[in-house]
Amino acid sequence: RRHLSIGLIPGDGIGPELVDSAVAVLKAACAGDIELRFTVEDGGADTFRRTGTALGPDALARIRQSYDGVLKGPVGLPEVRLPDGTEAGLLGGLLRGGLDTYANVRPITLLPGAVTPPRAPDTRTDMKIDYVIVRENTEGLYLSRGRGVGNDRAVADQLLMTREGVERIVRFAFDLARGRHGAPADGISRVTCVDKSNVLRSFAFFRDVFDEVAEEYPDIERDYRYADAAGHDLVARPEHFDVLVMENLLGDILSDVGAATVGGLGMCPSGNIGKTSAYFEPIHGSAPTIAGQNRANPTSQILAAALLLDHLGEHATATRIRTAVANAYAEGRIRLLPGGSPECGTDGVTRAVVDALAPVG
Ligand code: NAD
Ligand code: IPM
Ligand code: MN
Repeated sequence: RRHLSIGLIPGDGIGPELVDSAVAVLKAACAGDIELRFTVEDGGADTFRRTGTALGPDALARIRQSYDGVLKGPVGLPEVRLPDGTEAGLLGGLLRGGLDTYANVRPITLLPGAVTPPRAPDTRTDMKIDYVIVRENTEGLYLSRGRGVGNDRAVADQLLMTREGVERIVRFAFDLARGRHGAPADGISRVTCVDKSNVLRSFAFFRDVFDEVAEEYPDIERDYRYADAAGHDLVARPEHFDVLVMENLLGDILSDVGAATVGGLGMCPSGNIGKTSAYFEPIHGSAPTIAGQNRANPTSQILAAALLLDHLGEHATATRIRTAVANAYAEGRIRLLPGGSPECGTDGVTRAVVDALAPVG
């Protein structure tokens, strides 16, 4: 019998109800096999409002050292701001920078039965969508913030790309593509470099480094898209993609675009992965307008918990959770309403997934 110690950051808005759902699924999936211990960490906009900092004392050290894994809910509330106008309750800088989790891994997967508008007008129901956005998570346009902002102009937020930073994220993407064994519809393993190298020199640098690293992976097809066309193709021909690698801000935007083609933000989990630390969360935010109403789709958080188990080497249990989720949608036990909320409510999704879990053995 294995033991896992898991840190939980419930976060703001719909975060706590989502994390409750994922914990219920984790407990059911691990019962009799893996012993789970959960520790709740204070973090987010509400934490900032109460204490003046967005993360509880010594939480970062505990996340680095004490837990086997960390499951985080969305954080942030639009009204909780710093004097410079940006949000005070976000943990992106603290956690992604502080833990150096340089790879933000965002699988976009279409589950039969999960699709709801908005989607491409001509999308076929048999379309295969199964790709991973690898978003650089510690550099790019996110690195410097708010310097040089005046009344009449803002010259700020310089973009940083280092050779080391680009090399490691591109290598991560190619290694991931190798492990996926040709997931796209045509069975060809490929990594798509998404950039704006036609306009911006920094992105030309990103593409040069991409090409250098790609030389080490002759078995994987190289593919290129400018970011605008990538946005189009993610909607118009998503079956083409396998792994995509891109700068931080582009990855932020294009992952939400991808989510719209697979049933909405509530379907999409992510992993923030570094050399020595990792944590897992939905790609979406705290959706404050639907918080506490049993309207949030917890699938993103449940699948984030499965990614966490994968990361800890518990592949069998992770697969059981993913299969249970897929079956619950395929059999119509979970249906999504326009906008992405589940017809059966947040708690109904939890029940449907727990019921669909195959017994161990
Ligand atoms: P959001 O992702 O919270 O919501 C966008 C839209 O999607 C809303 O209509 C919302 O109701 C809907 N939605 C999101 N998740 C859903 C789910 N699981 N089920 C059903 N519907 C869902 O984005 P926003 O409104 O732009 O931001 C709200 C707050 O979240 C802000 O404070 C923002 O900074 C923060 N944020 C945090 C994270 C994070 O913690 N990783 C990510 C994105 C945004
Ligand atoms: C995400 C979020 C975060 C980001 C925000 C809330 C800092 O949108 O994880 O996609 O922009 O990275
Ligand atoms: Mn985002």
